[in-house]
Amino acid sequence: MDFTQLLEQRESIRDYDPQKPVPAGILEKIINAGRLAPSACNNQPWEFWVMQSPEMLEKVRACYHRQWFKDAPVILVIVGDADLAWNRPFDRYNSIETDLAIAMTHIILAAENEGVGACYIEAYDPEILKKALELKDHQKVFGITPLGYPNNGFSKKNSKIRKPLSQILKYL
Ligand SMILES: Cc1cc2nc3c(=O)[nH]c(=O)nc-3n(C[C@H](O)[C@H](O)[C@H](O)COP(=O)(O)O)c2cc1C
Repeated sequence: MDFTQLLEQRESIRDYDPQKPVPAGILEKIINAGRLAPSACNNQPWEFWVMQSPEMLEKVRACYHRQWFKDAPVILVIVGDADLAWNRPFDRYNSIETDLAIAMTHIILAAENEGVGACYIEAYDPEILKKALELKDHQKVFGITPLGYPNNGFSKKNSKIRKPLSQILKYL
């Protein structure tokens, strides 16, 4: 898809067909877009964990109580390690959340480009996820998304609810 069109059309999908799996090749293409994301100092402090076994899906689905989330055949979790992320020397700001948000952005754009629905989710219960994934102390989840085919396709509307440029753009 043309990149500008992709930016205009990408939408959060909250209605998945549980019977339609995402083919392995397409899944890998989507996750590769996360791998290619920029990160501070190119530290790449991430891992991409794909939940698709019935056991793991059941455990991870408990972290966010929306039926559409539970319907998705795949849940992708981006796991970060703050010890691997860059620290700004002036004030020790750690770039982990920024790096992982960019990786997730690549992923949701790549998913739409492949005709696969996604929805960036942060409102999950981190404790449930930590237990389900048996995370170590240095590992933390900074974003998850269901991946799957929308029941009713994409809306293909270019009508995003966004503030107008005139309100948010400043030339100084
Ligand atoms: C950091 C972040 C966290 C989000 N968390 C959630 C969430 O927990 N649940 C949800 O349904 N949508 C979540 N969203 C999706 C936003 O609601 C959505 O991107 C926004 O309303 C704009 O709609 P659009 O993605 O269709 O353009 C999140 C998006 C971002 C970027």
